[in-house]
Amino acid sequence: MPDRLKNEIHDALRAARSQLEYLRDLGEAEVVQPPPLEGLPVCPVGTTSAASGGSCRPETLEDVRADLGDCSRCGLAPSRNQLVFGTGNPAARLVLVGEAPGAEEDRRGEPFVGEAGQLLDRILKAMNLERADVYICNVLKCRPPKNRDPESGEIETCEPFLIRQLAAIRPQVIVALGRFAAQSLLRSKTPIGRLRGTWQEYQGVPLMPTFHPAYLLRNPAGKREVWEDMKQVMQRLEQVSV
Ligand code: URA
Ligand code: URA
Repeated sequence: MPDRLKNEIHDALRAARSQLEYLRDLGEAEVVQPPPLEGLPVCPVGTTSAASGGSCRPETLEDVRADLGDCSRCGLAPSRNQLVFGTGNPAARLVLVGEAPGAEEDRRGEPFVGEAGQLLDRILKAMNLERADVYICNVLKCRPPKNRDPESGEIETCEPFLIRQLAAIRPQVIVALGRFAAQSLLRSKTPIGRLRGTWQEYQGVPLMPTFHPAYLLRNPAGKREVWEDMKQVMQRLEQVSV
């Protein structure tokens, strides 16, 4: 988390505490904490915590992970080493979505930890972001054999979990990394070269398609375009940071 954000949170907490102390000193005994949410059941699909009168809680990333379990819902399970759920800040303002785990990710259980991942780290750094600030995951949680393209049945089975991850995080911006993530999330056949750099929407969240870092390893000239796209992402994040 950037220091500026840490300081802002710190200041906001301090202000809230002194306001509560002030009200307590005035004799406002009714200044009570909101009830703890942890003990409540997860809200059923289509219900919000508010609509339930606070009797259920929104789903967390841990809930989604627990529901995936040792997933064998599609044909990728037998050949994978392990499922790669996603990593990063559960309250991230920016979520980056790739295609599917590769060999290194399948070995380590983390997304984007191979060569493409190192390039992604450099892109984030240039945006003044650390991995821990953002959330990174993939459309598919399991490695397709020999890194073949994901199949539509696999996406259909796996995508509900991505949708639930995004609902739990509620990011302000999504970046779709590469042709596959962009086309499958947007249900589009438009080439990535035309999609990139243009704002789209996924599950109500603004989505910026850009080239995949693995593509940039083969075509370094594309880095300029990715930087243009990421500048748009930074601008958008700044606009909604109030
Ligand atoms: N490529 C992806 O799309 N995702 C990863 O996690 C790694 C490489
Ligand atoms: N082709 C892809 O599959 N992805 C890119 O990001 C660019 C070209």
